[in-house]
Amino acid sequence: MIEVVASIAALRAILEPARASGATVGLVPTMGALHAGHASLITAAAAAPCSVVLTTVFVNPLQFAPTDDLAAYPRDLGGDVALAERAGATLIFAPTVVEMYPTGAAGVRTSVRVGVVSESLEGAHRPGHFDGVATVVAKLFSIVGPCRAFFGEKDFQQLAVIKTMSADLSMPIEIIGCPTVRELNGLAMSSRNRYLTDSERTGAAVIYRALQAGRETIERGSRSAFDVRAAMRAILDASPVVASVDYAEVVDPATFAVPEPLEGKLRLLIAARVGKARLIDNVGAFA
Ligand code: PAF
Repeated sequence: MIEVVASIAALRAILEPARASGATVGLVPTMGALHAGHASLITAAAAAPCSVVLTTVFVNPLQFAPTDDLAAYPRDLGGDVALAERAGATLIFAPTVVEMYPTGAAGVRTSVRVGVVSESLEGAHRPGHFDGVATVVAKLFSIVGPCRAFFGEKDFQQLAVIKTMSADLSMPIEIIGCPTVRELNGLAMSSRNRYLTDSERTGAAVIYRALQAGRETIERGSRSAFDVRAAMRAILDASPVVASVDYAEVVDPATFAVPEPLEGKLRLLIAARVGKARLIDNVGAFA
């Protein structure tokens, strides 16, 4: 039977003796509103195998801008617990904001900033977002202790920020990136998809098609970031459901710089607004 705890002390009281008797811990940090993408991370942690499969459910106020609607972020702890248990979780940590930030979200004194990889793309369009992510994930790592932590490649830049933080601060955590789970039409699974109407959900698959068009441009021999961007933009701009595009970019996945000419391992990333949702997605490529 899955156990649900809300306090740091209760979580440690379970993890410390478990680890002392040889248990390995798999951590899947989430903001709840769990879907098949999260389930795949939990299943990966169970299959690793990790004996304790811990899912955290915490809508982290630090990673929302004042203009984002934090209050409207979907919350359904009962549904999350049921889905997590079916996927193989054995433990849920669902703290309150006061438990995580005793001085209040606005009064947080210590925050973590990861240089370079957090500055472009999402970092440029959502100032402060990655500081909020790095701070809460550093805090979760510190609460949980040595573990394997599973994150989706759908948030590819977030994964790079977390890997960089963990390496730079010598955290005793093995970070594991897991493939993006997609709907049948190619749309990447996201908690934000629930903001889409049925026709927007169908139309939003254009983001994946644009990424594939960018990758095909490289596969056909272009080594120009301009060509790749143009191929992605042409598809997005022709779509009736795409209201705006924040970026359609190709980068070196290690540095997030745009290589000219394109060379070696690459990542193509898009952020676009469809209806009320801002959607992100990415694919890998090789030049
Ligand atoms: O990817 C998410 O859901 C969040 O950014 C994370 C990693 C759980 C931190 O709040």
